[in-house]
Amino acid sequence: MRVLVTGGAGYIGSHTLLELLAQGHEVCVLDNYANAAPDVLDRVRALSNRPLRDETGDVRDRSRLDKIMDDFAPEAVIHFAGLKAVGESGTNPLGYYDVNINGTLTLLQAMQRADCKRIIFSSSATVYGEPQYLPYDEAHPLNPMSVYGRTKLMAEQILTDWAAAQPDRATVLLRYFNPVGAHPSADLGEDPRDTPNNLMPLIAQVATGKREALQVYGDDYDTPDGTGLRDYIHVVDLARAHLAALSYAATQSGARPFNIGTGQNYSVREMVQAFEKASGRKIPTINSPRRDGDVAAMQADARRANRELGWQATHGLDDMAASTWAWQTKNHNG
Ligand code: WQD
Repeated sequence: MRVLVTGGAGYIGSHTLLELLAQGHEVCVLDNYANAAPDVLDRVRALSNRPLRDETGDVRDRSRLDKIMDDFAPEAVIHFAGLKAVGESGTNPLGYYDVNINGTLTLLQAMQRADCKRIIFSSSATVYGEPQYLPYDEAHPLNPMSVYGRTKLMAEQILTDWAAAQPDRATVLLRYFNPVGAHPSADLGEDPRDTPNNLMPLIAQVATGKREALQVYGDDYDTPDGTGLRDYIHVVDLARAHLAALSYAATQSGARPFNIGTGQNYSVREMVQAFEKASGRKIPTINSPRRDGDVAAMQADARRANRELGWQATHGLDDMAASTWAWQTKNHNG
């Protein structure tokens, strides 16, 4: 299939490109490099040994999109491009609505003009908000607790309405849990531009000595060791979910959400221990107050994706930690 990938130079996008190219898809990337390294696509080309088209530009640029639609004529779009820092979304709400909502609207308008009917969307488990029950299934109430989460939910609604307006349109909403890990080559991984927000890159920076200690945000939650539980998913498994979604969208119509997680969860302390094992280094920790907006536990019920997409996570915790460490040492002076 000819597939346009917005935000394809980012962390999850770049891993998905490799899977697409390995399966023989023709791929064009649109990225503005707001949060991606300039050499990522060269790394993807070298690893895949396949041609890859790329355009540097913004997903809100309608004339640019029209031109790409005319030149490349994608049969499907995978839409990663967006802003994703929860804290920053609260201080810059208009920026988040602009990129995440206007970006999605502009893309859909360009797709509609070009009669492109299939889209896979990067959504987030954060659309569920405070758990009413766990694991979350796709029928769980939707009540995001941040601006970021609301942009994801609104984009889901727009995509759902768009799909419903014509019988042959297909939208697949992938609700990611906590993506971690790196490609086995250690040439692709998460490369946060500023201070990382997420647990794994922070642990990795403590292991290399870039940071003195990991702050553990809350050790008095109602969980077995008192620290927060999350459903961490290896980025290669997550990338493969997009391939499964693409096959699904080729034969189905309408909009459908899928949880993309492992169905297991691990505590902050378990993540630290796994990383100590993978790196052979001690990770000092400091018990700190709970972080605003955090919930005690999250966990996916991923059975719908197992059943309907034929997708299942295969990478375990040790691989998540070991691949992160390999990426960190190869690229960031471990
Ligand atoms: C994981 C656990 C923290 C940092 C966020 C977004 C979500 C999605 C993924 C998408 C929690 C604890 C963390 C630290 C810690 N984003 N922690 N010390 O908050 O589950 O999800 O990222 O694009 O939408 O909300 O992930 O990695 O920040 O935290 O103790 O220095 O680690 O409290 O329990 P989170 P995270």
